[in-house]
This record gives sequence, structure tokens and C-alpha cells, in this order.
Amino acid sequence: MNKVVVGAQWGDEGKAKITDLLAQDADLIIRYQGGCNAGHTVVAHNKTFKFHLIPSGILYGNKTCFIGAGTVILPEAFDKEVKELIEQGIDISGLKVSPLASITMPYHTEVDGYSEDNAKKGKIGTTKKGIGPTYTDKVARFGLKIEDLYSPEALNEKLDVILPLKNKTLEKVYGLQPYSKECVLALCEKYAEIFKPYVCFDWQEMLNNSKKKQILFEGAQGVMLDVDYGTYPFVTSSNPIGGGACTGSGYGPKMIDEVIGVAKAYVTRVGEGPFVTELTDETGDKIREIGHEFGVTTGRPRRCGWFDAVTMKYSVLVGGLTSVALTKIDVFDTFDEIKVCTAYKDTRTGEIYTSYPTNVYIHKYLEPVYETHKGWGENVSNIREYSQLPDNCKKYLARLEELLEVPISIISVGPDREQTIFKK
Ligand code: GDP
Ligand code: IMO
Ligand code: MG
Repeated sequence: MNKVVVGAQWGDEGKAKITDLLAQDADLIIRYQGGCNAGHTVVAHNKTFKFHLIPSGILYGNKTCFIGAGTVILPEAFDKEVKELIEQGIDISGLKVSPLASITMPYHTEVDGYSEDNAKKGKIGTTKKGIGPTYTDKVARFGLKIEDLYSPEALNEKLDVILPLKNKTLEKVYGLQPYSKECVLALCEKYAEIFKPYVCFDWQEMLNNSKKKQILFEGAQGVMLDVDYGTYPFVTSSNPIGGGACTGSGYGPKMIDEVIGVAKAYVTRVGEGPFVTELTDETGDKIREIGHEFGVTTGRPRRCGWFDAVTMKYSVLVGGLTSVALTKIDVFDTFDEIKVCTAYKDTRTGEIYTSYPTNVYIHKYLEPVYETHKGWGENVSNIREYSQLPDNCKKYLARLEELLEVPISIISVGPDREQTIFKK
């Protein structure tokens, strides 16, 4: 069974924990979109590992971990991550990078930082890792790909087209320093060395030979951050949805059997943008504190709120989810009451939305319609069997399944690999 792991909310749902778990049975793990904006945490063997670009399956040592064509790679971040893993004694011989992945150049990071720091209106709250500008150049046919690093001819021709225009924009629009061709060529030489041991020029053979093996597709970010379906423009610049696994990996849709959407028992979001169930009171603070809700990549406190079945149902649809992995239910162990948003109410007209309204500019007029569930008041983090969960917890899970109309197949009760319940 080939599976895709997709973030079903606004990222940080615990995807890496679930990917790491499922990677146990996989031969090939493919990261299909995003870049080092991702911050993925795996807790295994009493150690915490943080990944940004490298698929978390790398920890097993005997899996092929492929960073696909749909990703954007900041070479310095890749280099740092590789070195840290080697220092920790992890066998990374299975690591491969697609020659078609896009390169984040220093000017992409500079433009991202400049746009964020100088935005008077419409700030996105990006990770400042150059993600948006790299994807912008890719789609504008203005980008560099890993394979260009090994082709002086391609680099020469491309830079002659890219640099005059790029420099004009850097100087005139952003007031940033231009880049000489010599400087970019020197950077590319350095990057070529960084990627050399990992570039998979025979990726077509690799994918063909893996067709009968177990493949796990690893998503970054989440459906609500998807550039086409998320809370646009407060999104990332790639397609985290299940469909993104095809464009970003090189495999077609028939290669996918299951799409597992990872969702927290509540919702978090980092950066700007609408968030109807956001709690700016002490309940939000309590969730943040117990759930340790601070960004892996930027350290920013995550905004917290109640579980939102309206966006989640939308996620099931556009994300193509076939089941859900619900994480962090242990965070509610001490809560007397747990709320679930089942609809939005328009405070101007009284209109009730049970389907997700995609025009995010009206979200400020929406308030959540909640149903309240009784808490379970006990520690669930040591439970490994579904039947052992407290009754109120099972009722809560059953209600979510009813609302989402897909099964909750995995329940996570703590950060460790072991702290997982597989529901049969
Ligand atoms: P990702 O980006 O989706 O991989 O998630 P992050 O790594 O950014 O954030 C998830 C955080 O929650 C990490 O610190 C995980 O170790 C932690 N985590 C994952 N599952 C659980 C869980 O079930 N309970 C608790 N308490 N923490 C969890
Ligand atoms: P993982 O994979 C949570 C958010 C940023 C910002 C928006 C655009 O760990 O779930 P970008 O730098 O991508 O241009 O920022 O997307 N964002 C994430 N939020 N988890 C992530 O990754 C994120 N990657 C980007 O905070 O709101
Ligand atoms: Mg994260």
C-alpha cells in the first residue's frame, strides 16, 4: 500500500511523527513539495530529531529517501542538515535529491525577508526562507534547477537571461544589491559540491524499479496552506494536498492507495491569516503551554484554537484524505470541556456556513458555532490500545469521525514513536 502523509490543517500537525512511523514499512520515502520552511520533529530512541528538508524516514538507515522535483532547496540549509545527521551517526546513504528540484538562491531569501520586514499591508508572516520567491521564479521560468549546476552551458545561458532582469528588480524594486555573473557562478560551484553525492540523475530508473515496492509520500505544511486551496494569500507557495504528491514526485495518481491527513485534536497556525476558531484567551495559552506550541523553524509562538470541523471537512475533500491521524489528544487530558466547531455564523447576516467559505476576506465576520464535549480527566499518554481509552475520549473521537466522514485510523498520545494507537 502506497501512502501519502498530508498535513490537514495549517502545518505542524505532527506529520513527521506519523511519517516516521509509517516509514518503518516503506522502501522509498519521497518528500514532494515545500522547502526548509518545514520543521518536522521526530522523537525516537529518547532523542529528538528536527528535519527541514530531509524525509524523516532517513532515521531507519536502510530506506531510500528522495527529495522530489516539487521541492525548493536552500543549499546551505540542506548542507547543514546533512552534516548534523552525519554527526549524530545517522546513515544517510539512502538520501537522494531530484535534479529537477529548484534552488533557492540568496536573492530569494533576501527578497522574502525584505518583503516581510517592509510590508505595511498584507504581511504573510512567512518563514523568510525564500520559499515564495523561489517558486515565483520557477513558475515564471526564471529559476535554477539542481541539474543546471552540472551543466556549464545551461547555467551560462540561463544566467544571461535571468540576471539582467533579476538585478533590475533587486535594485529598483527592493533597493537590494545586484549579483554579478561571476558571483553567481562561484555560488553554483559551491552548490554543485554540496549536492554532488546526492543528486539522483537516474531517478527515472529508480522510480521505475520501485514501482512494486512500498512508497511513502511525505507532505510538508498543510492543506490550509496550499497555494490553490488554502487561505490564499496567507498560504505557502506549493501544493501540500494529496494531489501534490504526484506533481512533486514523478509518480502518477494510480501509484497512491491511501492519503492520511494528519490533524491535531485542536488547531494551530503560525504567521498571519484568518483563523476562525483561534483562542486569544487563557484557554489558548493553556493549549500552547501544554502542547509546547512554538515553531520548529522560527521559534514563533503558534496561534492556538479549537478543532475546526468546517476546515477539516474541506481538507478531507481537497486534500483527498482517505483517513485521519489525530495527534496530541493527550494535550486535553486536564481539560474539563473540549469544543469542536461544526459551523461558522456570519455575524452580519446570521447566515450559517457548514461548508468552508473560500473568500478569506469575510472570515473576520465569522464566528464559530461550537458543540461542547466532556473531557476525560486522565492521562492517556501511556495507552496503546483503542479499547483502553477513556469513554469520553472515545465519544469525542467517534463524533469527529461522524463529522469528517472518514475514519480516524491513527491516534497519537505523545511525541514518541511508541505513543501511538492504531485503530483497527
Ligand atoms: P510537523 O511539522 O507536522 O511534522 O509537526 P512539528 O514537528 O512542527 O510539530 C509537532 C510537535 O508535536 C512536535 O514537537 C512533536 O514532537 C509533537 N507531537 C507529535 N505528536 C504528538 C502527540 O500526540 N502528543 C504530543 N504531546 N506531542 C506530539
Ligand atoms: P511544517 O511542514 C506551519 C507558514 C508560514 C506562513 C506561510 C507562508 O512544519 O508543517 P512560507 O515561508 O512558506 O512562504 O510561509 O506558511 N508555514 C508553515 N506553518 N508549518 C509549516 O511547515 C510551515 N511552512 C510554512 O508561517 O504563514
Ligand atoms: Mg512543523
